[in-house]
Amino acid sequence: MKRLRQHLGSNYYLPISQLKRIPPNYPPLIENINWKEHFINGKAPDMIDLGCGKGLFLESLAMLYPEKNILGIELREPFVKKIITKKKELPNLSALWYNITNGLYFIDDETIEKVFFLFPDPWFKKKHFKRRVFNFDLLNEIYRILLPSGKLYIATDIYDVHLYHIEILNNFKKFTFSEANNSLIWDLPMTNKQKSCEEKGIKYFRIICCK
Ligand SMILES: C[S@@+](CC[C@H](N)C(=O)[O-])C[C@H]1O[C@@H](n2cnc3c(N)ncnc32)[C@H](O)[C@@H]1O
Repeated sequence: MKRLRQHLGSNYYLPISQLKRIPPNYPPLIENINWKEHFINGKAPDMIDLGCGKGLFLESLAMLYPEKNILGIELREPFVKKIITKKKELPNLSALWYNITNGLYFIDDETIEKVFFLFPDPWFKKKHFKRRVFNFDLLNEIYRILLPSGKLYIATDIYDVHLYHIEILNNFKKFTFSEANNSLIWDLPMTNKQKSCEEKGIKYFRIICCK
């Protein structure tokens, strides 16, 4: 079976505003979004997975909640193309090739039930923390799009990044949050990365945030 791999240089992770030159194959900005092109019922998404990767979690979620529209957002185009091939069986599933550091302006205010941010940040070294996706800009966007009862789910396998998430959330102040390392509380399908952590015996850390 062909393995999907795509090495991306560090510039691909930056927002367009920080780039002197846009690298070839940088995901385009989203001008006008027509949800009819994504979901059979033409409605906007109910749940969004930021940095969905190969999409195991996304597919399981779409199967669990056939009445909900599930959208993945991903920097790597091959993963997005592969996820889209599943739309025949799962018409409530879709994915966008897009860099989330450019904002979520194409999603309306207070429309999303759940946002997932599961193992997406490759910048785990302290010296690279400025490149991390998880910052006040992203949190403001997530807070804006979540319904008043909405929730944000966060996971990482890097303890320092987990502490960084807690620090940013404490400074942001708008979410109430707690650690959710108990699977009964978490109660969500497995992601590709989580599966690989389980297989290798790598610990991971989870947080649930309420608006
Ligand atoms: C380690 S994988 C985890 C994927 C999936 N969430 C999981 O748990 O299996 C991280 C994914 O986040 C994506 N990612 C990282 N930064 C991103 C960004 N700024 N915008 C969109 N996707 C991003 C990467 O391309 C990669 O596929």
